[in-house]
Amino acid sequence: LRGLAEDAGRPLPIGAAMAAEPLAGDDGYRALAATQFSMLTTENALKPQFVHPGPDTYDFTEGDLLVDFAAANRMRVHGHTLVFGEANPRWMQQVAVADRERVMTDHVRTVAGHYRGRVAEWDVVNEPLSPDDDGPDGGPGLREHLWQEAMGESYIDKAFTAARAADPEAKLYLNEFGAEADGPRWDALYALVARLKERGVPVDGVGFQSHIHEAGDHIDPAQLRSHIADLAELGLSARISEIDVYGESPDVQATQFAGVLGACLSEPTCTSFSTWGITDRYGSTAEHDSYPLEPGDELPWDQLLREKPAVAALRDTLRAA
Ligand code: G3I
Repeated sequence: LRGLAEDAGRPLPIGAAMAAEPLAGDDGYRALAATQFSMLTTENALKPQFVHPGPDTYDFTEGDLLVDFAAANRMRVHGHTLVFGEANPRWMQQVAVADRERVMTDHVRTVAGHYRGRVAEWDVVNEPLSPDDDGPDGGPGLREHLWQEAMGESYIDKAFTAARAADPEAKLYLNEFGAEADGPRWDALYALVARLKERGVPVDGVGFQSHIHEAGDHIDPAQLRSHIADLAELGLSARISEIDVYGESPDVQATQFAGVLGACLSEPTCTSFSTWGITDRYGSTAEHDSYPLEPGDELPWDQLLREKPAVAALRDTLRAA
């Protein structure tokens, strides 16, 4: 995939979320990571829970391993994620409301500062929208969590401003799920980033996670393309940040992966295409049992590291670009 993506008429970084443990211990996984991808997203290693275990303690061991692997293999690094309502260590969840702005901005400055010049882009804020349609206009409001409770919507402004100050060269993304299709989630996301731009917040782009986790779910490439184009009008890039596809069959799965890649390739402001993992051996949903997946159902390579039809479909799509 990597070679085709680099040589495509429209070159595109092609990435995957990766984890330190299999990179260190699984030769087959490491080989796929290095040869098939030109970009790496830190799956869990840079979440606050792992990188900031105590108020005065940072642990960059796993993050450094991933960033060093990427550098050794000339891969672009996408850092995930500076600010999130989940995946926070217990101590952080207990910080008094009055101290939260300082704790959040210190965290952003320290982590983005540590990787200045080595992490090319960040999810500064992950999943700011509520998973439910609980907002005043019938769509999702802001997700309620410790940062939002303390600062309201301005936590987003403050997080982006701190990230920009810590690494002025890094591209800064807001990452969200379920906004690929027309409907209230997309409307709420668009309205949110339009407000951020209006306020001069230094946001560069939006990540469409593109998880397809339920049987019968699909992403319509035409709707996704039009959302990417709408963001371009606001001066924002877009990226496919976390795609994995349940797929009722390997062929349905292949069609979905290829359709989303095709949408990205067709829009000049789509900056990268990343899957959420490489192989079902370590898939996020299979591993954590949070969805009723059958083995072999979410990523392009199966548990034995054999290509599924999705890989050929992605290759064909890159060749056609
Ligand atoms: O490493 C710890 C281990 O020390 C501990 O003993 C064990 C006990 O639960 O947990 C291990 O941590 C787990 C971690 O993955 C690393 O394997 C967490 O419990 C588990 O909740 C965590 O799941 C991750 C999940 O986000 C929640 O943070 C998945 O791997 C990860 O793929 C998933 O990724 C999310 C993105 O961040 C945001 N978008 C959706 C995406 C998929 O759900």
